[in-house]
Amino acid sequence: MLEQRRIVVAVTGGVAAFKAAYLVRRLIEQGAEVRTVMTQTATQFIGPATLAALSGHAPVTSLFGDDSVSPHTELAQWAEVIVVAPATTATIARLAHGISEDAVSATVVAARCPVIIAPAMHTEMWEYPATQRNVAQLAADGVIIAGPTEGVLAGGDSGAGRMVEPEEIVAAVSRALGVRDLDGVSVVVTAGGTREPIDPVRYVGNRSSGKMGNAIALDAARRGAMVTLVTTAPAPTHPNIAVLEVETAQQMAEATWEAAATAQVAVFAAAVADFRPSDVSAGKIRRAEGLPTVTFEPTPDVLKGVVEMPDGPFVVGFAAEVGSVDAAVDKAQRKGVDLLIANDVAKAGSGFGTDTNEVTLVRSDGSTESWELMSKAAVARRLWDVVVAQRLAGAS
Ligand SMILES: Cc1cc2nc3c(=O)[nH]c(=O)nc-3n(C[C@H](O)[C@H](O)[C@H](O)COP(=O)(O)O)c2cc1C
Repeated sequence: MLEQRRIVVAVTGGVAAFKAAYLVRRLIEQGAEVRTVMTQTATQFIGPATLAALSGHAPVTSLFGDDSVSPHTELAQWAEVIVVAPATTATIARLAHGISEDAVSATVVAARCPVIIAPAMHTEMWEYPATQRNVAQLAADGVIIAGPTEGVLAGGDSGAGRMVEPEEIVAAVSRALGVRDLDGVSVVVTAGGTREPIDPVRYVGNRSSGKMGNAIALDAARRGAMVTLVTTAPAPTHPNIAVLEVETAQQMAEATWEAAATAQVAVFAAAVADFRPSDVSAGKIRRAEGLPTVTFEPTPDVLKGVVEMPDGPFVVGFAAEVGSVDAAVDKAQRKGVDLLIANDVAKAGSGFGTDTNEVTLVRSDGSTESWELMSKAAVARRLWDVVVAQRLAGAS
């Protein structure tokens, strides 16, 4: 996937520096050429010999005294992308202000290529106002910010500030390089809300607009996947997207099951009716006939049918909740999905019809990760980064 791509991994002085070794190994497994550069503090956390052994090249640890006259500009010109992982508060502050006083900051400041930073620090350091300002400044300057996420931190604390896993950084690198990291992968996405007829003119429906599913289908297609989009809503146009228009849960189930049988990833962003009228009137129900009684019967469980497939695809479910997303954690485990995206549809800027979404990612082990409010396109990109990372981790 990253054959012969030239990547600089810059390591700074935080506990997560040990994960930089794993990141270097992952990038090399993908075929990349990797050079490393470390701050002096980073050498307190991980030995330069480790990075030298993994990458085949001694890390640059100082601006002066190594073989090169100008190691930072050499590295900066060589790199197609620079990843600062972990990125400490101190290094983030230097980069935000263009202060190039060590090997890492000088290399980044001298570069013209895309730069990714993966912040890693205690929650208090992450939430410190200057850190937040500096990260916002870097993002505004075009630096790609990968994470951080929530979880166990050094010393046993827990909270925001944990570095994203190396596989996710590899996915961010691929994206920064325009690599089609889903090339040839077969994907099925469901979108929109199903409509269950009462009579020829009326139906029971829901408020799903299909925007989230469309964004997911489009990002997968751009990354090279062959996408089957099973939808009730207007669909995006892309040469890699085949659209199957459906209306009812039954039709969505049949189309999805057929597509999922040969898919590697299935994403269930549609809002599928759980119940449908059990007797659909052949003619229009008329007011003059008095108040009708509508009885319901269950619809097929589209998701369950795919989860139960032998050798079925990697499954991403969605849960629209109102209020707390706790029920989603239970749902993820009960349904046996690989990932679940939960959102509180009652929250402003989140859920049906909006262009933005604020979601919580639930993993199959029950761990959760809250993502800030962002566009549905950004949620889709981040979701695919996670899926690509998990497929990468699963392949090793
Ligand atoms: C044990 C220990 C752990 C540390 N972990 C972190 C960390 O995870 N993140 C961080 O931003 N700073 C951390 N620090 C503080 C940095 O090492 C310190 O700010 C240093 O100046 C960073 O330098 P650098 O950015 O040049 O590598 C830690 C310090 C110690 C002593």
